[in-house]
Amino acid sequence: MATIQTMNSTPPHTENQPGAQSQSETPQAHPEFGHIRSFVHRRSHITARQQDALDRLLPQWSVPFRASPIDFEQVFGRDAPTVLEIGFGMGETTEKIALARPEDNFLGVEVFNAGVGAMLQRIEDSQLQNLRIIQHDAVEVVRDMIAPDSLAGVHIYFPDPWPKKRHHKRRLIQPPFVQLLASRLKPGGYIHCATDWEHYAHQMLEVLSAEPLLANTCEGFAPRPAFRPLTKFENRGLRLGHGVWDLIFTRKP
Ligand SMILES: C[S@@+](CC[C@H](N)C(=O)[O-])C[C@H]1O[C@@H](n2cnc3c(N)ncnc32)[C@H](O)[C@@H]1O
Repeated sequence: MATIQTMNSTPPHTENQPGAQSQSETPQAHPEFGHIRSFVHRRSHITARQQDALDRLLPQWSVPFRASPIDFEQVFGRDAPTVLEIGFGMGETTEKIALARPEDNFLGVEVFNAGVGAMLQRIEDSQLQNLRIIQHDAVEVVRDMIAPDSLAGVHIYFPDPWPKKRHHKRRLIQPPFVQLLASRLKPGGYIHCATDWEHYAHQMLEVLSAEPLLANTCEGFAPRPAFRPLTKFENRGLRLGHGVWDLIFTRKP
């Protein structure tokens, strides 16, 4: 059985990651939009290669934020199931999944420049055709750019755990956002979450189970599906005896 991580340490997968939060930050509602953001704007290191990828490739592979639903067929140039990934970080997992599932479209949302630069570089290096990026707050992207009943799936892997109790309100998986996400899924579409924070895992299970539009595909937590590769942080965590919890829910018909 995995050991329970202490709630005041920084989890390994947030080190040097875009989105690794400063523990001194206090959650504040953005005055314009009224919701508490799940990330903190901070200066993060960006390599010359990531900056170069941003400069060259962002216009080609990204969809600018706008306040109206996008047409997936137009964005991807084909009619195919579309999966939204929230917070792809440096894009390692996203790239592997997009390569392994060429028949699906992937729409990756991330806020931090270094991660978006890294993802763009992966698109070029692997010649990925089925991945597009939106660099914006995922809460607003889902609310404004994703049409109801349109997504085949949602991936949320290792979202920022916000371990301190006073920061829990910053966690992405909260009832209103899950309700919004569920409404964007097609009937039969899935939400797949993974976390290495036990407290957050139980919060995810509680919130997802309470959403009337969703049904759990398992009794409680799910085994890691073969399509989600182990991340390097996860490998290290597993070696240290830390747990990882997957959850897969589907939208009811
Ligand atoms: C801890 S990292 C995990 C990255 C990646 N999924 C992985 O497994 O390595 C969480 C990521 O979510 C991003 N993020 C957090 N809140 C977000 C939001 N509201 N919209 C878009 N990205 C967000 C952060 O910038 C960060 O890169």
